Amino acid sequence: MLNVLIVSDEAKEIYTLFKSNSFDLHAEDLKLKGNSLRNNSTELNGYDIAFLDLDTEGWQTRLLELRQQMPVVTFSKPDTKRAVEAMKLGAADYLEKPLTTDAFNDVIGRYKKKILEHKYGFGEILGTSMPMQEVFGLIKKAAAGESNVLITGESGTGKELVARAIHRWSPRSEKSFMTINCSAIPDTLLESELFGFEKGAFTGAIQTKKGILELADGGTVFFDEIGDVSPLFQTKVLRVIQEGEIMRIGGTHHIKVDVRVIAATNKDLKIAMSKGAFREDLFYRLNVINIHIPSLREREDDIPLLVKHFIEKHAAKRKDLLIKGITNDAMNILTNYSYPGNVRELENIIERAISLANSPEILPSDLPSFLLANPQKRKMIPKLKDAILTTEKETIVSALHESNWNISHAALKLGIYRQQLQKKIKDLKITPLFH
Ligand SMILES: Nc1ncnc2c1ncn2[C@@H]1O[C@H](COP(=O)(O)OP(=O)(O)OP(=O)(O)O)[C@@H](O)[C@H]1O
Ligand SMILES: [Mg+2]
Repeated sequence: MLNVLIVSDEAKEIYTLFKSNSFDLHAEDLKLKGNSLRNNSTELNGYDIAFLDLDTEGWQTRLLELRQQMPVVTFSKPDTKRAVEAMKLGAADYLEKPLTTDAFNDVIGRYKKKILEHKYGFGEILGTSMPMQEVFGLIKKAAAGESNVLITGESGTGKELVARAIHRWSPRSEKSFMTINCSAIPDTLLESELFGFEKGAFTGAIQTKKGILELADGGTVFFDEIGDVSPLFQTKVLRVIQEGEIMRIGGTHHIKVDVRVIAATNKDLKIAMSKGAFREDLFYRLNVINIHIPSLREREDDIPLLVKHFIEKHAAKRKDLLIKGITNDAMNILTNYSYPGNVRELENIIERAISLANSPEILPSDLPSFLLANPQKRKMIPKLKDAILTTEKETIVSALHESNWNISHAALKLGIYRQQLQKKIKDLKITPLFH
């Protein structure tokens, strides 16, 4: 299901185009809602993509509002100036009127693929659990904007995957995504990697080399393990973010760079700040949007899906044996473990099991012995407040799902007022990306 919002005073005519027979999508895959530009109270929750008519006054404000929530495809009578303005304001695409079914077909096809790439996740990031649905909502929000993002989470939770997804979905996706692993590289090397150097700047600098920040101009730079860099280096990073310019080592002039910064850490930066090991000003510059990825033991619902995914991913390596799946017993053992190394650990366990397997299904004996020795679930009893919230959220999501995300219908099912439901959707951060 792809929920399409059409914002135009001619929404009705546009409907007809979508509904025409040659359209590539089945009617049940699309939910359309038209909205006049003059009507300011658009309910934005629940849409995957918007089509915005630029031939009406006030479209700029509307575009800025919509693009925070979803990709916005704009259209107008042929007008290059307006098209450029729309793209600068963050439109995902521009189409010329008269609109044709083919043009819609093409653009929706592209986004449908992006949005529905995986039924249970966000591109290659899988997760059906509530906490992951929240993460997907935040990725979507971060991708639509330009703010810096700080991704936090234990080792192996998928921080790098999330950073890549944000870039891939952002207007910068055509430009580069460059990663710098701050923990792996000593300070001096970090500096030449990031800023580059001029020929002769130091022994061995036989020719001028551009740094990552320059190479990523127009794109995104991912500072992995930002919690590990020295205070001196933090000052340099802060300067880049504040001034938007760099100087190559041995250089004499500043070079403007336009980069979006995404940083990740498995450290608690608040503790690091209280010890004076991490600069507060840098923290606030980075933490404009915070995406916290919960550990795998906090979202055990995701385990079976991930297990199947990793089996598919790694099974191809066994040329001699067609690995088809996993026995229930083995799956039970996997869902009962607490994964200190998170998703990466689970992936390693599956990869190893596949290499050991002697039958088309993974058996308990293919799993590491420490899993077999300790099959008792370390079940955490949730705080009562959390348990109530989770149940409330799940109930609301299933009512919304059954009502095709029609808020009024869902409210009726739940026996509450529409306004109450809207408030809960907002408070509980329910995002309708995949349903
Ligand atoms: N939700 C997920 N769905 C599918 N694969 C995942 C998911 N989360 C993590 N992975 C996989 O787990 C591995 C670890 O992910 P990633 O490198 O992004 O984690 P990380 O948080 O950056 O870890 P570290 O802190 O150790 O660098 C990768 O192989 C990634 O593809
Ligand atoms: Mg990482």
